[in-house]
Amino acid sequence: ATCPGSWPYPRVLAHRGGGVLAPENTLAGLREGLRRGFRAIEYDIMLARDGVPVVMHDPYLGRTVAGSGHVYDYDAAELALFDAGGWFARAYEGEPVPLLVEYAQFCKAHGVWMNMEIKPAPDYDLETGGTVAHVAAALFADEIAAGHMAAVPLLSSFSMLALEAAREVAPQVPRACLMSELPPDWERRAREVGAVAIHTSHRHLTPRLAREVRAAGFGLFCYTVNEPRRARELLAWGVDAFCTDRIDLIGPDFA
Ligand code: G3P
Ligand code: MG
Repeated sequence: ATCPGSWPYPRVLAHRGGGVLAPENTLAGLREGLRRGFRAIEYDIMLARDGVPVVMHDPYLGRTVAGSGHVYDYDAAELALFDAGGWFARAYEGEPVPLLVEYAQFCKAHGVWMNMEIKPAPDYDLETGGTVAHVAAALFADEIAAGHMAAVPLLSSFSMLALEAAREVAPQVPRACLMSELPPDWERRAREVGAVAIHTSHRHLTPRLAREVRAAGFGLFCYTVNEPRRARELLAWGVDAFCTDRIDLIGPDFA
């Protein structure tokens, strides 16, 4: 199993699959990151009406996906026909909402390490967490069996219920607690879900908190860091890794 305190993963992740150079959470975004040498990404996952996980950030259509209503108003096959790229630029018109399974398989085939962010709709924490964990465990069954844990995705969520469900379904797939600002009882929460890492907004982090998290044996990841100078500062504080929208300014080998 992955040990708390170790961060065997890449240091710089493309946020929402490909940062802001291509439509977020689409295969086109992923390809843009690949072109720039990224082999690690963070992306968001929700459940469609039929319980099939799809790669999407917002719980509703309208911003990045043409249409209206909630993600859970549509089956995954319907969502896959909606345009998730035209909002960004004409060249991306018709880019589909990816199914999690297809997207994750594409990542695996290209050696892209994944931080899968579980974003449950209200009251769907358990189902969403369990489903995503199941997909990750099935896709990486060989790596898990071989103890090659650095290749296995890291599941993160703001929903502790989703993380608990993920642990129930696939305890061997590592989890991270997402907390925008660390509350005084952050450590208890992280231990409750058996997390190996803390994911937090860099805006609220302090050098002292960073030291505490790492001294307690957890990996420390920050979102979303878009200025190279700030990224350097956070790394100096002991932050293990971060995601960025600006994959044009901060490359995969940034140090
Ligand atoms: O996983 C970190 C970050 O992506 C959380 O915020 O809204 O961009 O998914 P958001
Ligand atoms: Mg996210």
